[in-house]
Amino acid sequence: MRVLNIVWIILLVLALSSLCFAFDKVKFVAISDPHISIPQQKGVTDGYKLGLKTVMLTENAISEINKIPDLNFVLVAGDLTQDAEPWNIDELRRILDGLKVPYFVVLGNHDLSLVPHEKKDQPVSLSKYTVAGAFIGKSGGMVPGMTYYAQEVGKDLVLIGLDTSRAQVFVPEANLNDFGGRIDAGQMRWLESVLKKNQNKTVIILTHHNLVPWQEGDKTNHNAWRWFWIDNAEEVRALLKKYGVKLVFSGHRHISTRYQKVDDIYHFITPPLSTYPMRYTIYEMTPKSLKWEVKDVPAPQEVWDLARKNFIANKWWRGPDHPETPEGNQKYLEFYESNWTMKGDLTFK
Ligand SMILES: [Fe+2]
Ligand SMILES: [Fe+2]
Repeated sequence: MRVLNIVWIILLVLALSSLCFAFDKVKFVAISDPHISIPQQKGVTDGYKLGLKTVMLTENAISEINKIPDLNFVLVAGDLTQDAEPWNIDELRRILDGLKVPYFVVLGNHDLSLVPHEKKDQPVSLSKYTVAGAFIGKSGGMVPGMTYYAQEVGKDLVLIGLDTSRAQVFVPEANLNDFGGRIDAGQMRWLESVLKKNQNKTVIILTHHNLVPWQEGDKTNHNAWRWFWIDNAEEVRALLKKYGVKLVFSGHRHISTRYQKVDDIYHFITPPLSTYPMRYTIYEMTPKSLKWEVKDVPAPQEVWDLARKNFIANKWWRGPDHPETPEGNQKYLEFYESNWTMKGDLTFK
């Protein structure tokens, strides 16, 4: 009888300790779309993307992030490089390795080889397996031989980094390289097996392409904007909902931090480092809540002025809702700046 009591006490202590040791709070930063292009590379310019400033902007963001106390990790939501050039991958590794905490990347549409075509003079770009291979372990979160992964980033807190990229084939009808995405059948099977295994844990999803549209043109395919969100978004959202996932972080859309709740899942977008409005976001998360604060990347005033000027001048990113009138300019800025949500918090059900 006494032995039985001791066994029960041990079991109770173990059960209680497993409850107590789940993460109670994590602090992390999300950055996206650094599009690193070293200035020595031929043809790099400051347009809508501040090509010549990408190294400086990412370095400045990282040195600010290093000042944040009690930070646990950093998420990097893809479009790591201009177009998967080996020298740009090396440069980004050098900058991100300057972080004092582990970081986790996913691949964007710009992080895999271009299919050569007459419109693009591209000397070298690497396969996505080679790019992913440069970000293994603590320096990026990747695992050998794969382009997606699951990592425990806190007690009972799992980060799943997805690969939404696909070959950048030139599409003549759009006069663009295909910048769209999907999660293929093999990755869907892997994702379900990981979600099943971690059903009692909190799961964060990191992805480059979005799982939801952000404005009308994304739905109507204005300027091929259907490629901002993955082809099989509904299928992926249904799978995430089935396993109780609450949080998705994406990049690619180049708008400032904001979220929408769809099917009980909070979809957060991460602002770009390389285009206006260059920002990063600090998150504090508990199993029941999320709090965030968005910060501008420190840069000289002339860089901010240039970024804003080139942003206003860009026709492609405006879309039908933002004509080139004073009112259209205002709405265009409001949409991409999303200044009403520089700080916020929410509670999970
Ligand atoms: Fe991008
Ligand atoms: Fe992208």
